[in-house]
Amino acid sequence: MTTETMIGVIGGSGLYEIDGLENATWQAVESPWGTPSDEILTGTLNGVKMAFLPRHGRGHVHSPTTVPYRANIDALKRLGVTDVISVSACGSFREEMAPGDFVVVDQFIDRTFAREKSFFGTGCVAHVSVAYPTCPRLSATCYQAGEAAGINMHNGGTYLAMEGPQFSTLAESKMYRESWGCDVIGMTNMPEAKLAREAELCYASIAMITDYDSWHPEHGEVDVTEIIKTLMGNADKGRDLVTRLPDLLGADRAPCEHGCDRALEFAILTAPD
Ligand code: ADE
Repeated sequence: MTTETMIGVIGGSGLYEIDGLENATWQAVESPWGTPSDEILTGTLNGVKMAFLPRHGRGHVHSPTTVPYRANIDALKRLGVTDVISVSACGSFREEMAPGDFVVVDQFIDRTFAREKSFFGTGCVAHVSVAYPTCPRLSATCYQAGEAAGINMHNGGTYLAMEGPQFSTLAESKMYRESWGCDVIGMTNMPEAKLAREAELCYASIAMITDYDSWHPEHGEVDVTEIIKTLMGNADKGRDLVTRLPDLLGADRAPCEHGCDRALEFAILTAPD
């Protein structure tokens, strides 16, 4: 059985809209989990429905800690989104993953601590698996779209999600890179990825590298002015990548072969009434 694809893009720093949507409208979506970061831009691109939500809000009003992650994922689900593409800025722990490159992240270490991380808890208890937190099918499509756009892409990588808003200390940066084996670092992919899984949405993360964090002896500490310079170029590439997705994914959607869209089937503990 097929359903209709609706691509939901959560845009990070620098990516506040996408171009070329037909019938584009900004819609306010209510959620019992709060007010999403902003209205959601909906429309159609090459016959495929799309929804775009700026993670920090237009005008960048939410810090990584105050982003209403639950409301954002719930609002996308309510609109009918089936596939979520997270686009965000990150720092790199690898020489070969340079500023301007994009990484299709496939693992996370979650070091955030001041955010609501689940839709479940009181009344209904569920424990979903996030052993493989991203959708391999959607991630492969993002990689393909990035290559077609001429972006220097990296297939797979471990993303350290930190609370922020300050950047890491040098000791933390070295530990994440040398002992923990992380590839990139950012402040926003968690709990977003976990919530997408709870909402039974396929999720892929495109991390756009802006800097080498603070470990690199030749690059010194992280500097927002430098980040912003790289961010603008990255945002143009990000928009190019995203607008290639409708043709690659198509309007007809088969159930996810990895089961992301059925994640709750064996996860709910509370007995039904
Ligand atoms: N976002 C962009 N660069 C970053 C870094 N070095 N650490 C955390 N978040 C980031």
